[in-house]
Amino acid sequence: MLKQADEILSEPDLLAGIENLLSVLYFNFGDINWIGIYRYDGDELVLGPFFGKIACTHIKVGKGVCGTAFEQQKTQNVRNVHEFPGHIACDSASRSEVVSPLQEKLGVLDIDSESYERFSEEDAAFFDAVAAKISQRILKERKDLKFL
Ligand code: SME
Repeated sequence: MLKQADEILSEPDLLAGIENLLSVLYFNFGDINWIGIYRYDGDELVLGPFFGKIACTHIKVGKGVCGTAFEQQKTQNVRNVHEFPGHIACDSASRSEVVSPLQEKLGVLDIDSESYERFSEEDAAFFDAVAAKISQRILKERKDLKFL
């Protein structure tokens, strides 16, 4: 899947490539109900490209799983979101999630599942690798995602 990610992200249009990569992950990773990017606008995290149900549009740095991952610049693998202090429940069906920070404070990659303990440490490392690839693709032509 990581090799396929390179091919998909080689699409010259940045947003088109990211959208297709999110689609492939959404439909092929298995047992996920939401995947998307929150982009940092210099002040807070704002909803970017995603697959899944309607989601929160603005997340303050330090709030929820996304805001925590961004503030600490550290991947969060939350086995049970109901036990995570300050979890933001966009979709009450979500039970576990991984959030990987993008490089250079571009934002975060958020992946949710309706199953508890869906994501292993290998899965989290996989999404870190995906986040790194997306970041590198963005940084090839942009310094931030404020244009989206
Ligand atoms: N669960 C996230 C909010 C984003 S939605 O899941 C799409 C959080 O607590 O940061």
